[in-house]
Amino acid sequence: MRILHFSDPHFDLSLHTIPWRKWFGKRAIGALNLLGGRGHYFDEAEEKIDALRRFKESQGVELTICTGDYTALGLRAELENAAEIIALLAQPPERYITVPGNHDIYCFDVLHGDHFREYFGRYMHSDWPQYAVDDGWPFVRLFDELVVIGINSAKPNPLPWRSDGHIPPVQLEALEQIIADPRLEGRWIFVITHYAARLADGRPDTPSHGLRNADAFLQACRGIKKGAILNGHIHRCYRTDLSGEGLSVDLFCAGSATMQGRECFWLFDVTPEQIFVHRGLYDSECKEYRLASDAPS
Ligand SMILES: [Fe+2]
Ligand SMILES: [Fe+2]
Repeated sequence: MRILHFSDPHFDLSLHTIPWRKWFGKRAIGALNLLGGRGHYFDEAEEKIDALRRFKESQGVELTICTGDYTALGLRAELENAAEIIALLAQPPERYITVPGNHDIYCFDVLHGDHFREYFGRYMHSDWPQYAVDDGWPFVRLFDELVVIGINSAKPNPLPWRSDGHIPPVQLEALEQIIADPRLEGRWIFVITHYAARLADGRPDTPSHGLRNADAFLQACRGIKKGAILNGHIHRCYRTDLSGEGLSVDLFCAGSATMQGRECFWLFDVTPEQIFVHRGLYDSECKEYRLASDAPS
């Protein structure tokens, strides 16, 4: 089975289409950050996602996973726009899986309105809903030799200088139970969430930017015999060996698929016995994605 993992496309609505009167507090600050120069890094995000769709189709990808941060401010208009942009990449919908990033649930009203689920819920359903203990989380998707477990680590951050994440303990308890479920014996287990439990060098991220209960999350993943932990949030691709922490799986951060100059993603080939990992990049001259090992066309 061939799996594409990308993250953090950060689609940018053109500023004049955003309803300014709905902005308040942190959103206004987030908007100012965008206006201050962050936004132009994602100017071609929509075109790049179409290029990623071409890559996916030409490479015979059977399952696509996105670990969140579709938007900048989590506005309903942005989520609707993002859902439209990824619709073709997400074909067929039962072969596209996602979790939200912190930018997708930027403020409490977005979460309470559950706008992310409104637009992306079709990509977050569970084959084992009996394990969904926290508003639909965690979800479980079963494929032949693979199971994907979605964990929500994104939460609203009312303080503008914080962008940390947290996984509710009930999700971690359910995660341990799912991993221990005898029906998963022998399968590859991919745990996907937005926040990075570890940085590229194996250290935890800072308290104001990282996953606050990263240690508890990794503890819950110790039962995985073969698989991977997939995340985004940090806009660089990296792979971290977690064997020093007693885990049998590596952590893969997919960075951002669309951030100018840093575009990357991961491609996994999973067979019943083995896993092969490839890193993807964007050729800005051809405006196409390719594998890092491929010769430029
Ligand atoms: Fe991001
Ligand atoms: Fe993020």
